[in-house]
Amino acid sequence: MTAQNPHAGTDARAREARTTLSVYGQLPFVPERAAGCDIITSDGRHILDLYGGHAVAALGYGHPRLVGAVSEQSTRLLFQSNAVALEVRARAAEKLLGVAPDALSRVFFVNSGAEANENALRMACVVTRRSKVLAVTHGFHGRTAAAGAVTWNSSKWYGFPARPFDVDFIPRDDCEAAERMIGRDVAAVIVEPVQGVAGAYDLSAEFLETLRRRTQHDGVLMIADEVQSGIGRCGRFFAMQAHGIVPDIITSAKALGGGIPCAAVLVRDDIAAHFGPGDLGSTFGGGPVAAAAIVAVIESIEREDLLQNVRDREAEIRNRCLRGPVKKIQGMGLLLGLVCDRPAVEVRNALLEHDILTGTSADPEVLRILAPLVLESRHVEHLADALGTLAPATDNTRKTR
Ligand SMILES: Cc1ncc(COP(=O)(O)O)c(C=O)c1O
Repeated sequence: MTAQNPHAGTDARAREARTTLSVYGQLPFVPERAAGCDIITSDGRHILDLYGGHAVAALGYGHPRLVGAVSEQSTRLLFQSNAVALEVRARAAEKLLGVAPDALSRVFFVNSGAEANENALRMACVVTRRSKVLAVTHGFHGRTAAAGAVTWNSSKWYGFPARPFDVDFIPRDDCEAAERMIGRDVAAVIVEPVQGVAGAYDLSAEFLETLRRRTQHDGVLMIADEVQSGIGRCGRFFAMQAHGIVPDIITSAKALGGGIPCAAVLVRDDIAAHFGPGDLGSTFGGGPVAAAAIVAVIESIEREDLLQNVRDREAEIRNRCLRGPVKKIQGMGLLLGLVCDRPAVEVRNALLEHDILTGTSADPEVLRILAPLVLESRHVEHLADALGTLAPATDNTRKTR
């Protein structure tokens, strides 16, 4: 920092606390740089990042293909809107559709997970002309009006005077309730195949299959929110592919740009046909730098066989990390929930003392692993060793807490 900045040298945390809305709990370190899976802090600590900035850093940090693509595109053409066609946007659309289920053949680019879900829900209401949406208990879909309306327990922060449509929640994994609740009055069922914020809870194959069968039967659109589970995180490009289920709409964000903000709504041709000029829009959606990032992320996953890497690292975590405070491991790929014998926040803090960053979740007992897809075996060993230093809770320690 230069002398022009009167705050130079003071703690960024204190300055953010003075200048930004205090809506985030913040961790006690300030990242300055990052490389691979390591964050280097302002005071020189190296922290192994198993949280990936809320599941965004799919390729870790400083990945040469991503950094190269973003910097080359920034130099060549930093921005143009959807008022013009762009070679790089066309390539991003082809790449993304190329890794999605065949039936999804059109994409609408936006900027965030919530914006993707907002548009998916609007499309479902328009296409079906119905005004009720079903979601699943414990699901998270974002903070905007429609996405917040289908998020479990959002009344604590929702804030708007009314929901944009009727909403009901199917108890998760309750096939009988799904059979009963899905009917011809429903526009869409929105579901995360692995519920991320809820603690990487993987919904049962039977439940997801029931949703697919019932929605098809009643002309209801099935929206798979793969904002957190998609783009390789679950060992497939999309988690639904692991179940062989093809939804009507998939939403994607987070890892899609590897750190450059971008998101997408993938739909079938017949859904796309309902929308013409002026019906949907987004100024920044599909901008050239975001598009270049999408191409680089997908190409890296393909060329570096990262889907296999995710499955291998998942197997290692399941083999090595069921120890210390960890009672059970749930989730899929590198979207994993370590179910702990004590508050997950205590384990998160203890691991941070070992220079390992993990995340908590809406479930107070579940610690979340959202590691970059480039994670290595030595990183898993580091985690396993650190967990091994934390003694399992005895009945006594549980009682005294
Ligand atoms: C499954 C899921 N959907 C939607 C969102 C919202 O995404 P964004 O924060 O980009 O709006 C999130 C964010 O955590 C998410 O996990």
